Amino acid sequence: MNIDPIAGYLGAEITGIDLSAPIDGETAAALRRLLGQYLVLVLPGQSLDIPSLKRATRVFGDILTVPYVAGSDQDPEVIAVLKEADECDIEVFGGDWHSDFSFLDEPPGGSLLQSVEVPPYGGDTLWSSQTGAYDRLPKDLKAVVDGRLAVHLGAPYGKKHAPPKDMAVSRSIKMHRGDESADRPRLHPIVRTHPESGRKALFVNPTYTVAIYGLPDDESRDVLARLMKHCLRPDFTMRHRWRPGDLCIWDNRMTMHYAINDYDGHRRLMYRTTFAGERPR
Ligand SMILES: [Fe+2]
Repeated sequence: MNIDPIAGYLGAEITGIDLSAPIDGETAAALRRLLGQYLVLVLPGQSLDIPSLKRATRVFGDILTVPYVAGSDQDPEVIAVLKEADECDIEVFGGDWHSDFSFLDEPPGGSLLQSVEVPPYGGDTLWSSQTGAYDRLPKDLKAVVDGRLAVHLGAPYGKKHAPPKDMAVSRSIKMHRGDESADRPRLHPIVRTHPESGRKALFVNPTYTVAIYGLPDDESRDVLARLMKHCLRPDFTMRHRWRPGDLCIWDNRMTMHYAINDYDGHRRLMYRTTFAGERPR
């Protein structure tokens, strides 16, 4: 495998590996180590079909089905992330900074996204390293958040995306509301430690984190605003311009991501899987 780092705090392009065929245990362990180190892996030219994508997902953990979003017609464990050319001026799936499903008791460990059809320009994805954000957190903020919990809320799709009842994000991705297992608030540590690498990261995001537990409302709002301003600094990010066939794998424990919505008039199709994580510690 060749490893080509992408940005200062996260991301590496990995070549010299073919995930369309089964890989041996040593290669699988190397991929997990690389994900722990770089947090986002970009593997060009994979073009995995659904069985291969699922097999590649199991390298990192059990496949997880997720709340609110319907699986694809072909497979309930795979989401077709699709925006048709005529779906203009709508919200896109993942179109704000977030860590996937951070409001679950056991948020996902990560995801794989396989590009199938990409627009001629636009539709990039941003990721942000929250290990980097934690490492460079100002001391006074560190003192406030170390050992504290934050409140994460999924319903209805977090605090920003409160669509009218039954409104889908787009015609092409079926979202539903009223999932009792997902709707209630959860407490997670603001600073979490990766179970394998032992690295520490901030685990808050502007989509689902609604409060700092145990602080008065105004103080909680102030601390959250300062945290968000810091953890979304462009210094900690990378940006991926998709080519057909690209497979991206990301660690959902230690990063946030953002799907850029700037390609109205063009079709974009990706297949996505999610793998299990654990209760943040
Ligand atoms: Fe996402």
